[in-house]
Formats: sequence, C-alpha cells, structure tokens
Amino acid sequence: MSQAVKRIADSKFTLSALMGPQDANSHGNVHGGIIMKMADEAGALVAMRHANAPVVTVAVDSMTFLEPIYVGSLVLCHAELTYVGRTSMEVCVKVVAENPLTGASRNTNQAYLVYVAIDPEGNPTPVPELVYETPEEELGAAEAQERQNYRKHQKSKSSLTHERPTIQSE
Ligand SMILES: CC(C)(COP(=O)(O)OP(=O)(O)OC[C@H]1O[C@@H](n2cnc3c(N)ncnc32)[C@H](O)[C@@H]1OP(=O)(O)O)[C@@H](O)C(=O)NCCC(=O)NCCS
Repeated sequence: MSQAVKRIADSKFTLSALMGPQDANSHGNVHGGIIMKMADEAGALVAMRHANAPVVTVAVDSMTFLEPIYVGSLVLCHAELTYVGRTSMEVCVKVVAENPLTGASRNTNQAYLVYVAIDPEGNPTPVPELVYETPEEELGAAEAQERQNYRKHQKSKSSLTHERPTIQSE
C-alpha cells in the first residue's frame, strides 16, 4: 500500500548489467545509448517505487560521458531521489563501470532525470511526500528545486506544445 511520506532510502536502487558484444558501437566500446537507456530505467524504477504508480520521463539533464566503457564491464546505475514536487520526482543516476576481473571501478556518468506519476487516464497524479534525513539530503533537495525552477522556466519559454498520451485499455 502507498505511504503518505517516504524516505530517499525507501526507493533507492541499483540497476546493473554486464556489457557484451551486442552493446558495442562501431569502435568496440559500449554504445552511449545503452547507458542512457539503463540510466532512464534505473531512474524510472526509483520513481515508480516512490510513487507506487506508473511514471513517464519528462526531462533528462545533460549526460556527459567522462570516460569510455568497455565490453566486459559491469555497469552499475546507482539511482536515488533528490526531490519530489506534487506529481514530479527528480532522480540522480550515477553510472559506475566496474572491471569484474579486478574489481577496479570508474565513475563514468552522472545525470538528473525528472519523472511524473500518471493516473490511468495519463494525467499527472500526486506522489508521497519525501522526508529528508540528513543535511546532505536537504542540500540536495534545495539544489534540485533550483534545477526544477530552471526547467519550468525553460519550458515556459518553449514554443512546443504537447498532447497527453492516450492510455490504451486492454
Ligand atoms: C507528463 C505529462 C502528462 C505532464 O503534463 P503537463 O501538462 O506538463 O502537466 P503539468 O503542467 O501539470 O506538470 C506536471 C508536473 O510535471 C512537471 N513538469 C512538466 N514538464 C516538465 C519539464 N519539462 N521538466 C521538469 N518538470 C516538468 C511540472 O513541474 C509538474 O510538477 P509538480 O506537479 O511536481 O509541480 C506530459 O508532459 C507528457 O505526457 N509528457 C510526455 C511524457 C513521455 O511520453 N515520456 C516518455 C519519453 S518520450
């Protein structure tokens, strides 16, 4: 059953996968799109665990690839909430590439993604409040709020409009 107030720890999650030849680009390193998809899946799972509802991605902040990831690496996407609004949730995803033979690991990416919980009609629906347990979490939430204000500002300046998706009934 969904709780009214939850902690960041209640939904944090790590998605991991061993990179194989099917994940390679034409240079033989892992394709950036594979990492972006994993990061989005990890973030969405955190948001779903918090909301106990389906979610859609509404924003992905710039994702910089600091270092290549090689086939044979274990990729770990560590994802946790930073902030929740009424219906939206910001998740920080940190990507780590580990050499399973040596245990050596490298931080390769970090990104912030925003999800919105939706009801069966595809409309935004309220999510549980988030309680911050440490000064670091409080600071992270304040920074996330600033990023969210900036995204809203950018959205208000955009000339793009959208239609809400139609939810298909089975
Ligand atoms: C999610 C969706 C239904 C929201 O519709 P909307 O008309 O923007 O709804 P609202 O204006 O009420 O915004 C809902 C929440 O989303 C947030 N939001 C909307 N667009 C945002 C953006 N670009 N960046 C950050 N937050 C955003 C709002 O701030 C609001 O948050 P809050 O309730 O916590 O204050 C609509 O944007 C949509 O369907 N988007 C497509 C999602 C999708 O298909 N994603 C898959 C990838 S293509």
